Amino acid sequence: KKGEAWSARFSEPVSDLVKRYTASVFFDKRLALFDIQGSLAHAEMLAAQRIISAEDRAGIERGMAQIKGEIEAGSFEWLLDLEDVHLNIEKRLTELVGDAGKRLHTGRSRNDQVATDIRLYVRAAIDDIVVLLNGLRAALTDLAEQNADTIMPGFTHMQVAQPITFGHHMLAYVEMFGRDVERMQDARKRVNRLPLGAAALAGTTFPIDRERVARTLGFDDVCHNSLDAVSDRDFAIEFCAAGALIMTHISRMSEELVIWMSPRVGFIDIADRFCTGSSIMPQKKNPDVPELARGKTGRVYGHLTGLLTLMKGQPLAYNKDNQEDKEPLFDTVDTLVDTLRIFADMAGGITVKPDNMRAAALQGYATATDLADYLVKKGLPFRDAHEAVARAVRACDDLEYDLAEMSLDQLRAFSSLIGDDVFAVLTLEGSVAARDHVGGTAPRQVRAAIARVRAQLAG
Ligand code: ARG
Repeated sequence: KKGEAWSARFSEPVSDLVKRYTASVFFDKRLALFDIQGSLAHAEMLAAQRIISAEDRAGIERGMAQIKGEIEAGSFEWLLDLEDVHLNIEKRLTELVGDAGKRLHTGRSRNDQVATDIRLYVRAAIDDIVVLLNGLRAALTDLAEQNADTIMPGFTHMQVAQPITFGHHMLAYVEMFGRDVERMQDARKRVNRLPLGAAALAGTTFPIDRERVARTLGFDDVCHNSLDAVSDRDFAIEFCAAGALIMTHISRMSEELVIWMSPRVGFIDIADRFCTGSSIMPQKKNPDVPELARGKTGRVYGHLTGLLTLMKGQPLAYNKDNQEDKEPLFDTVDTLVDTLRIFADMAGGITVKPDNMRAAALQGYATATDLADYLVKKGLPFRDAHEAVARAVRACDDLEYDLAEMSLDQLRAFSSLIGDDVFAVLTLEGSVAARDHVGGTAPRQVRAAIARVRAQLAG
């Protein structure tokens, strides 16, 4: 019977249903090039340690080069009968180069092999995602620069709070995605360890050189306990947790974009290429991309929960449960990569409507805090200033005025400390310009923050 690498032990073949149930090749073939990379490093070490001959190593390299070509050309025949990516490649290698192919698995198990493949895969994914996060940060920084002076209402509780600039608002997301970069880079340290050499669980009787393989594959170190090496998936969970936080940030931003594009709000427009229409309502232009990104956040959270749950009941060391780590991991990577790429592009497709933002900032007494601060600077205790301004706002409400529209006499009814210099602090421009310290919304500070981010992105 063709197929299973372990079949001599068995008196009957598994049923087709069991075969399909236990096979992973149709998703883990995505690891193929990492599997080959790991096998080549292993073979190189086996030859250097004289565990296999130089000819065997040469044969393995020749066979793997051909297999790589077949996979890249799409002509490699993946067989369900051969269960997973590892056995498919090994079988083909043996077809191509005979006994050398059969010697490759010396001192190795699929357990340490798959753990190595996934680490190589996650490491590459992290490096891609860091580049994409920084690309998005650069695009948002450009948008912030164009809008360093664009005034909009800042909200708390979805109520107008204080004037801010749109540039400052965009830079808040640049900070979030900056922490995401740090989290990914930190997780990478724990991803970048070599499990190979742990073999099935206890190590191997062959005189292997694990440090050599680690160096060849660019790992910083080896995993120091063989049981832990084959059964640890913490690194995948950490990656998914960092990914879940990226999607949290994407989703919050999406929610804002959707609200801002609502005609009721009208703060922005999003370029047509990121929107779709309705099949029934001819007038519709819907912000599909941010809506879908908000929705896809759910599946990334789900994958994190799935992986945590996958691990919680497993006794040491390897269990077949672990085969279930791959699809959530792959889908997390795909979702992050596509989402980050599309958001970096979409940032350049956002048109800001400054007049609408300004009009909204003029509703809701956004400069009330400025008036209270003004009274404090004239000597009134803050709580009394707060009370005086609260009374002024209430009067404005009745008159349907903004604070800046009151006459000096009207304002002085609430505090005799108010002089005609008050109108400078009641303007939106005066309000934002006055918040002039590191982290504040003053256009000067927004420009300084942009310079800091750009220096960081360039360095
Ligand atoms: N396909 C397996 C996985 O994804 C590879 C390791 C299988 N090891 C084993 N002893 N069955 O985890």
